[in-house]
Formats: sequence, structure tokens, C-alpha cells
Amino acid sequence: MNDLDKAMAVMDAAFDPHWREAWTRRQVEDSLALSSGFLILFDEAGRYPDEHSPAAGFVLARKVLDEVELLLIGVLPEKRGHGLGSKLIAEFLQKSARMGATNVFLEVRANNPAEKVYRSAGFVPIGRRKDYYRTEDGTKIDAVTFGKAL
Ligand SMILES: CC(C)(COP(=O)(O)OP(=O)(O)OC[C@H]1O[C@@H](n2cnc3c(N)ncnc32)[C@H](O)[C@@H]1OP(=O)(O)O)[C@@H](O)C(=O)NCCC(=O)NCCS
Repeated sequence: MNDLDKAMAVMDAAFDPHWREAWTRRQVEDSLALSSGFLILFDEAGRYPDEHSPAAGFVLARKVLDEVELLLIGVLPEKRGHGLGSKLIAEFLQKSARMGATNVFLEVRANNPAEKVYRSAGFVPIGRRKDYYRTEDGTKIDAVTFGKAL
């Protein structure tokens, strides 16, 4: 199992198709093919999984000039609520700082409870895009942009 396989196993289990937030394998692969894209994987103990172990959570991100965008974060449903999401964000912030970024940002659908995890990590809302997401049944939902200075 390579890192892409491990991330996709979490992706497929973590995202409710209703919201249409999950990325396809091809989309993730393309973003990682660019030098700016990177993946953080954690097992349930919050460590990078060894070659033979699956991941329990991942962050997909990309660096654009002096900013890093958190594209997606996912934790297996049965591993949630134990701080793994927060650990992944902490690692994301540290890695972004090491890469020389001065700011990080992300976009999230307006009604996603994940917002709480972002706020706990120090992200603040900095913008809103109207009707950015469209659910399976066609409902439109705003995107909220969160940012944090490093
Ligand atoms: C968002 C997500 C990664 C959080 O993972 P996690 O491992 O449960 O996060 P943590 O355990 O660190 O939770 C941090 C805090 O947020 C809260 N929280 C996390 N996810 C929540 C949810 N879905 N609903 C309500 N509260 C949630 C936790 O209660 C916790 O609060 P506390 O510190 O006050 O107890 C996980 O819920 C997930 O994979 N969701 C589906 C994918 C998704 O929507 N990703 C975000 C958009 S890209």
C-alpha cells in the first residue's frame, strides 16, 4: 500500500457522498504530481504509518508562494473524537511553517461541523463564497474561507 492508497482508503470512508467534498484518486494524484502538493498521513496513534500499516487520517495540502492551502482533511469515522484531526492540523501547521509559509488557509462548506476543529487550531473566518458547493440533490451551500497567520 503506498501513501496514495492509504489516503484514498480514508477518503472513501470519511466523506459522506451527499456533500460531494471528497476527491477522486485521479484528483489527489494530480495534486501530488505538482511539486507544491503534499500529503500528511497518521495512524490512529498519531504517527506516520509504516509501510504495511493503514492510515487513520490524512491531510492533503498545497503550497502557493508563501501560503499553504489545506485542501482536505479526513479521519476514519470510527477513529474520530480522540484528537486525531487536531493532531493532523498541528502537524500541517508545523510543516507549513518549516516550508517557509507565512499564512495558511482553507475553504469549508458553511454547515460543516469540522469548522470547530479549525477554530480550535486558531483559524478565523476571512471570507465567504456564495453557493460554492452543490450537494447531491442540487442544494447550494456557501464556502467559508478560514485563515491563520503563522
Ligand atoms: C473533521 C474531522 C477530520 C475531525 O477529526 P477528529 O479526529 O474527530 O477531530 P478531533 O478529535 O481532533 O476533534 C476536535 C474537536 O472538534 C469536534 N469535532 C470534530 N469533528 C466533529 C464533527 N463531525 N461533529 C461535531 N464535532 C466535531 C470534536 O468534538 C472536538 O472538540 P473538543 O476538542 O471540544 O472535544 C472528521 O470529523 C472528519 O473526517 N470529517 C469528515 C470529513 C470532513 O468533513 N472533513 C472536513 C472538510 S475537508
